[in-house]
Amino acid sequence: MNVLAIETSCDETSAAIVQDGREVLANVVASQIDIHQKYGGVVPEVASRQHILYITPVLSETLETAGLDWSEIDAIAVTNGPGLAGALLVGVNVAKAIAFAREKPLIGVNHLESHIYANWLIPPDSEEVEAPPKFPIICLVVSGGHTEIVLIEGHGEYRLLGKTQDDAAGEAFDKVARVMNLGYPGGPLVEKAALDGDALKYPFTRSWLKGTYDFSFSGLKTAVMRKVLEFQAPPPKPVPYSGAAEAEREKIAKNKATLQPPRPLPVKRGEKARDPWEEAEEEKPQSKAQEPESGLPVADIAASFQAAVVEVLATKTVQAAQEYGANHILIAGGVAANKALRAAILERAEKLNIPVSFPPPSLCTDNAAMVAAAAYFKLTTLDNPTANSKDWSLDIHPSWELVR
Ligand code: KG4
Ligand code: ZN
Repeated sequence: MNVLAIETSCDETSAAIVQDGREVLANVVASQIDIHQKYGGVVPEVASRQHILYITPVLSETLETAGLDWSEIDAIAVTNGPGLAGALLVGVNVAKAIAFAREKPLIGVNHLESHIYANWLIPPDSEEVEAPPKFPIICLVVSGGHTEIVLIEGHGEYRLLGKTQDDAAGEAFDKVARVMNLGYPGGPLVEKAALDGDALKYPFTRSWLKGTYDFSFSGLKTAVMRKVLEFQAPPPKPVPYSGAAEAEREKIAKNKATLQPPRPLPVKRGEKARDPWEEAEEEKPQSKAQEPESGLPVADIAASFQAAVVEVLATKTVQAAQEYGANHILIAGGVAANKALRAAILERAEKLNIPVSFPPPSLCTDNAAMVAAAAYFKLTTLDNPTANSKDWSLDIHPSWELVR
């Protein structure tokens, strides 16, 4: 069965064709990173417009790469949540249009579920085909918007064991990169900076939330910010009141009135768009270039921060696998691309003889092949009422939780 899938939930426009849930025939990803980089994060309105521009050429390239025509496609799958509302709408409407015109079944897929199913795909360039993961599975889902440990007892049977109480792990990576002026997206840049750093230099407190499989990363993020501030020059002393200062203030106020509207503010997946006028006052000016603060021990801070995140994620994931008798541990989502995280989970799981799998980096971050894989298993193993070409009620769910 050939499933054609579309993914537009955030800042990647992607389409893919996957055969029988595992074999990737084409997976085309048009990234918008360059466009959002100058804002330090994804600007939802810009993302939606780019999806509209990219989706048609991306679809044509997908069919061409796979060497298939529409008659050889058996079903259309699309991410319909969670994600940015305007961005999801583009994918869902395009998928509906294709399914209607070509009379194909249409199936909506949860974005987190698709990240999990990236582990069923046969990685491009792999020499031998590994057997699919064996249930029961413990999956650590770590992305820019989510961090959770899920017990998977069969296709579509999820139980949430724990999740972050505040920031997602990827979000913490992005914010730490931002305070050190490393650039966006932060995860790969922090990982790179950490390679030359001493992870023991700054022993940031780990938030264990003992007795639960929950996480918390906002305290760590604040600790990193404080550390960065320690290395920054103290702010200039306030100017004492004088007529001259008053004149200066008036000049600034006058200039402000003629200023252009501030640029739109970046938001994370699931967050509402923020009003740039309201927040302009407190907004930190963006660095033009990605130059870390001089004198800042970027590598040591990055390594110490990464070690704190990785230790908690790896320990809890492997503990959950032991407690629930898992046959397999999976890592899913953008942060699963992090080599330190993979190594820490592998090291702990090896002692318990539990196999660990994670997708290659290109399939960890957002792509449509994973959506097609999830859809295939829904279509073939579940009684799925949404997979019906006559049902056009499929809608977007920007805050859709995989499991509550
Ligand atoms: O899954 P994803 O592509 O989008 C969401 O569904 O959110 O994940 C993006 C997140 C970003 O926060 C990014 O910084 C993080 O994954 N990320 C990484 C790495 N590569 C991507 N975090 C740590 N290390 C990496 N190598
Ligand atoms: Zn994602």
